[in-house]
Amino acid sequence: MSPVNLSVRDEQLRELMDDPDCDPVRLEATLRRFHLVNRLISGWDQVYRRRLRPTLLRLDRPARVLDLGSGGGDVVTRLAQLAARDGLQVDWTGADPDPRAHEAAQHTQNQRLQRVQGVHGAPSVRFLCADADALLAAGERFDVVVSNHVLHHLDAPGLLDFTEASRRLSTGTVLHSDIARGRLAYSLYAVGITPLAPGTFLRTDGLRSIRRSYRPEELAAALGAAWTVSSPAAFRLIAEAPGRG
Ligand SMILES: C[S@@+](CC[C@H](N)C(=O)[O-])C[C@H]1O[C@@H](n2cnc3c(N)ncnc32)[C@H](O)[C@@H]1O
Repeated sequence: MSPVNLSVRDEQLRELMDDPDCDPVRLEATLRRFHLVNRLISGWDQVYRRRLRPTLLRLDRPARVLDLGSGGGDVVTRLAQLAARDGLQVDWTGADPDPRAHEAAQHTQNQRLQRVQGVHGAPSVRFLCADADALLAAGERFDVVVSNHVLHHLDAPGLLDFTEASRRLSTGTVLHSDIARGRLAYSLYAVGITPLAPGTFLRTDGLRSIRRSYRPEELAAALGAAWTVSSPAAFRLIAEAPGRG
């Protein structure tokens, strides 16, 4: 078998979960297991400590934070747990235009949140089945907009629409986190995902995700001068821009 070519993004690959007719049982299992995968590889605890918490503390009032493309909802739930433990009051929203993801998030995450008691009681997250345009049309604005693993799903016009709309939704800052494409990331994921993959799309879609993902310099070129793209940890990239809301 010839080795996978990772020197260029493979935009033609489609992830199984992006098929509206994919197996719903496997999709739900995939969305539910994202919380383990994200805890292991996405580095949001570090992003929270280094970038989000200082921003929330500076506001000196309850903040509004949106996770755009929140999928199964585990990243925004984890952020809500971390902020509750720090005694921060935040209105959290997770929005995803895919009704299957929205349903999974609503079903799973509020149970998880009940297990955490912050100084202001259990945190909660509002989950909406909506894309950025619907949120803008509804007049929603946030202090911070984040996303995880959405950028690599999008084609070139979709990437610009998504990132521009995320800036319009934010009056403060925008942070989009994703995988950085690379041979080592691909090889380690192929081995490491094995125990978590049965009954899910995690193996096929994770490897396709890496092949669709950007290197930091590619993403910087695609997004343009308003955005700063950095690599906060191995195999990760983060794109940051000021909001325009
Ligand atoms: C790989 S999942 C990531 C889900 C979640 N953020 C996570 O990290 O587990 C990608 C998600 O992006 C959502 N998505 C795709 N295109 C989008 C768009 N234009 N606006 C908002 N969400 C989008 C999909 O519905 C899907 O739930």
